[in-house]
Amino acid sequence: TELMNRVPVIWIELQDCAGNSEALLRSSAPTVDDLLFDVLSLEFHETLQAAAGHDADKQLEEAVHHFKGKYLLFVEGAIPMAMNGQYGTIGAMGETFHDHLIRMSKDAAAIVAVGTCATFGGVPAAAPNPTGAVGVMDLVKGKPIVNIPACPANPANMVGVILHYVLTGQIPELDSLLRPKFAFGYRIHDNCERRAHFDAGEFVEEWGDEGAKNNFCLYKVGCKGPMTFNNCSIVRYNEGTNWPIGVGRGCIGCSEPDFWDKYAYERPM
Ligand code: SF4
Ligand code: F3S
Repeated sequence: TELMNRVPVIWIELQDCAGNSEALLRSSAPTVDDLLFDVLSLEFHETLQAAAGHDADKQLEEAVHHFKGKYLLFVEGAIPMAMNGQYGTIGAMGETFHDHLIRMSKDAAAIVAVGTCATFGGVPAAAPNPTGAVGVMDLVKGKPIVNIPACPANPANMVGVILHYVLTGQIPELDSLLRPKFAFGYRIHDNCERRAHFDAGEFVEEWGDEGAKNNFCLYKVGCKGPMTFNNCSIVRYNEGTNWPIGVGRGCIGCSEPDFWDKYAYERPM
């Protein structure tokens, strides 16, 4: 079939682990194949494409030129700002991640920051943040930006943003942290499958105790679901297979700003 309306996507990776790219590959509705063949035209993605080295550089420059003003720029990873950005460089000319991001942003129709590193600095920005890592919205001004935090971002939310853009030509409605309201409009705790146990005062007190065996609420062993805005309690991960609270370890607030320092290891008591 003639693919008329596929939206061009350029995906760049900065200070990242490629976990969001991995997550995208596990998209289930639609699958990544349908997404790539019918919905978007992935013009550049260094982890998924065949080209490497100078060929990859060329492919990227050509895509930016050809789809000027039309492409969605997906950004995965934080941007290191310490030491004049020398902690991260890319391409034959050793362009810093900062300069690369700014240059790639210039002709994008909109920018989608995927994962907590690209949105809020994430794990690289955790104390003492040796590389001076920040997120995309700290640097890029004057462009529509959509933040899809979480570690990794849920592919359902990436696909939701892409499909919304394909269908309407617009980015979805956002909250004050530039997150799509359709995905981040409520807390984990609001839709948690263990919520009835919270309301009944039934808690896991120690890992592996009777409460754990009975799937009681994980608040007392550090669950941050009451402070965390995300929809994983509804859509889960890996084709709806499971999610952090489902496997009994609680939410570490992975989609919140500064989650590593604020939430990951802190407990309420
Ligand atoms: Fe709330 Fe966490 Fe308990 Fe679920 S497990 S009800 S999110 S505190
Ligand atoms: Fe992250 Fe908490 Fe969901 S740790 S994946 S926001 S349950």
